Amino acid sequence: MKKVTVSVLMLVATAMTASADGKRYGTIRDKVTREECGACHLAYPAGFLPAVSWKKIIGNLPDHFGDDASLDEETTKHVLNYYLKHSRHGKFRNPAMRITELRWFVREHRHEVSRRARKRAGTMSNCQACHRGAARGYFDDD
Ligand code: HEC
Ligand code: HEC
Repeated sequence: MKKVTVSVLMLVATAMTASADGKRYGTIRDKVTREECGACHLAYPAGFLPAVSWKKIIGNLPDHFGDDASLDEETTKHVLNYYLKHSRHGKFRNPAMRITELRWFVREHRHEVSRRARKRAGTMSNCQACHRGAARGYFDDD
């Protein structure tokens, strides 16, 4: 028993050190959600958009930014519940459908991103092209 406690403490210590060098934005911890919503792009962390946005996005998966991202009813419900539970708090009058359209996003990326990096990524929605730690919740590691 004692040994187990010690190794858990060591894991906690490691995790704290890892987050000390950058802000952690969160990840999708639910396996089903991570797989379904990470099939075509980064499984975007829920905390980037408010509940109203996720409701709209996940409420219309057959017409998903020009793609068909349909899921069966049960999985849709499961994924929606996860996103709603972890969504960004606050009141939003004009909820965005895209993270890449949010004001902080545009401000943060306007001057920092070279034309070459943008071209290589193809689209700003392709977070992982520039943020190698994105799947682990890190966006300031490049
Ligand atoms: C079949 C492929 C596919 C699947 C599966 C998929 N998406 Fe997408 N998603 C796309 C495409 C294509 C775009 C548009 C990317 C672009 O504009 O470059 C997109 C864009 C998005 C955006 C906007 C990103 C931005 O620009 O800020 C969000 C949010 C999003 N998807 C959420 C989800 C969620 C939640 C799920 C799971 C229910 C999901 N996606 C599953 C293909 C997919
Ligand atoms: C073409 C490259 C590129 C793409 C694509 C990109 N970013 Fe960035 N991002 C950057 C650069 C460069 C910075 C500014 C330098 C830094 O802080 O790492 C930045 C900064 C950020 C920051 C601020 C980090 C901090 O705490 O300082 C966040 C959050 C972020 N990006 C999230 C995203 C998300 C989410 C996506 C996808 C929807 C995305 N980025 C797509 C290049 C990119």
